[in-house]
Parts: sequence; structure tokens; C-alpha cells
Amino acid sequence: MGSELSVLFVCLGNICRSPLAEAAFRQAAARAGVAVLTDSAGTGDWHAGEAPDSRAQAVALARGMDISGYRARQVVAEDFKRFAHIIAMDSANLEALKSLRPRRGRAAVSLMLDYVPGREGLNVTDPYYGDTSGFEQTWDDVSAAAQGLLARLTAKSG
Ligand code: 4NP
Repeated sequence: MGSELSVLFVCLGNICRSPLAEAAFRQAAARAGVAVLTDSAGTGDWHAGEAPDSRAQAVALARGMDISGYRARQVVAEDFKRFAHIIAMDSANLEALKSLRPRRGRAAVSLMLDYVPGREGLNVTDPYYGDTSGFEQTWDDVSAAAQGLLARLTAKSG
């Protein structure tokens, strides 16, 4: 069993949104002095083994996070036991996670922007087909959500 502060972030390719979400959550946790077990994964496997998209790497680095060592992987059934929380970047990935969930998985599955007051139920827009400004927007979105999530989880565990 992992701690309550174990969180897996999930998007489609695991090269744009979820690595940025993982980085933003690591940064928020480090600033708060909170230990977390975290990772990211994709519901698809097309980019497995690859580093994050170079535009995601550049945006993260500019915000103080080096994500060049992250490597994409696909979600596996074991993730539902290993992590207390699995957080999808959009509703399509949320639905995919619900159908992947093993019967005895413990992870609570939710949507990233549920942790931003006023933006519950909304998707983190996929920046893959856009330009660099889209990745800056992604960072802002996942960073706000990561802080809200951390506040929620630390309030819960006291
Ligand atoms: P991500 O973005 O899900 O945020 O990592 C995408 C990356 C790659 C693809 C789609 C979305 N793709 O189709 O290859």
C-alpha cells in the first residue's frame, strides 16, 4: 500500500499534459515540504519510452522543473493498487480509466480540473497540435490544479 499522497496523472500520450501535471505536483509538494509518491502515464502506448515533447520540456524548465528524464509509459492494472489517486487530464481519459479499472483496484479516479474552484468537470486542453503558447496554458492549468489537489490531500490526512 502506498501513502494517501500517492498520485498518478494520466493523459493520452504521456508526453504533454500528464508529465507537466506530475512536474507541477512535485514542485508544489516540494515547496510545501510534503513527501509524495507520484508518476504519470498515458492511456495510449504510441509514445512509450519517449521523453516528454520538447515544448513541454522547455515550458517546465522555464518554471524550474527539469522533466527531460521522464519517460512515457502506458497505464497498467497495477497502477490502481499502487496509487491512491489517479487523475485524468480530460473526460475521454477519465472514461478510459474507468474501463481499465480492475475490480479490486483501490485508486480513486477523478478529473484534474476538479481541483480548481469554478472549473470542475472541465478538460485540460491537449496542446499537442498547437504552438508553444498552448503548453504555457497547460502549465498554468495543471499548476493551479496541482496546488488545489495538494491542499485537498494534505487537509484530508491532517
Ligand atoms: P498528451 O498529448 O496526451 O497530453 O501527451 C498527446 C500526445 C500525443 C498524441 C496525442 C496527444 N498523439 O496522438 O500522438
